[in-house]
Amino acid sequence: MPIITFANSKGGSGKTTSALLLACELANAKRVTIIDADPRHPLTTWATLPNKPKNLTVITNESEKTILDEIEAAAARDPFVIVDLEGTASRLTSYAISQSDLVLIPMKEQQQDALAAIEVVKEIHRDMKAVRREIPFAILFTQTKAAVKSRTARFVSKQFRDNQKFLTLNTEINERDAFAAIFAVGGAVGTLNPKEVNNLEAALANVNNFAAEVIDILRSTKAERKDVA
Ligand SMILES: Nc1ncnc2c1ncn2[C@@H]1O[C@H](COP(=O)(O)OP(=O)(O)OP(=O)(O)O)[C@@H](O)[C@H]1O
Ligand SMILES: [Mg+2]
Repeated sequence: MPIITFANSKGGSGKTTSALLLACELANAKRVTIIDADPRHPLTTWATLPNKPKNLTVITNESEKTILDEIEAAAARDPFVIVDLEGTASRLTSYAISQSDLVLIPMKEQQQDALAAIEVVKEIHRDMKAVRREIPFAILFTQTKAAVKSRTARFVSKQFRDNQKFLTLNTEINERDAFAAIFAVGGAVGTLNPKEVNNLEAALANVNNFAAEVIDILRSTKAERKDVA
């Protein structure tokens, strides 16, 4: 029942897209609930489109008053719970983080995103103090260029990857036609028509690597918790 939360108060950092990619990939094998706590409810809208994976349930968050109950109910029912948060820091954000087995902080390779990501890390540390437990978290670079990166992108990425205080996922979510297309036509990357989307194979490999790395992190943090216990 791992609970994986996507948090970054910077709007447009890739939370909703990355949350859906992970949810659909995990849903190939296990039941998954996504809690849609983005106030624009993009995942609730996506769920009305065709080809939603059978294993995937989308719950629309009502308010900060209900988020803890929604997470608890989903975790009791399904092996994976994913929470897509709003693009502002709030009490709802802290509530969701407090329940998480892993917080993923999506960010673009840009300075403004970097500053926002650091704020999220500080917020997670405050939440850890409040609940008196470690909350694993990791940076996830999103919307990155699959080919040649700009000098700024390389600089921002290196600052995070060289920082031993953070875990940064090796896998990046590239900027890809397929990852925007699922919000327009519905379904998962795997149900897209290769004739209508550029480079679908690379997109499939990207989400596959992403989910595999998340599973690895969940396994290693679970093992660490057992060591401590
Ligand atoms: N990897 C990607 N490839 C292509 N387009 C992407 C990718 N990630 C995000 N986008 C596009 O960028 C925009 C913002 O992404 P998204 O909605 O995932 O960010 P967010 O962090 O959830 O934003 P908000 O804070 O407003 O909730 C969307 O139009 C989305 O389609
Ligand atoms: Mg969003």
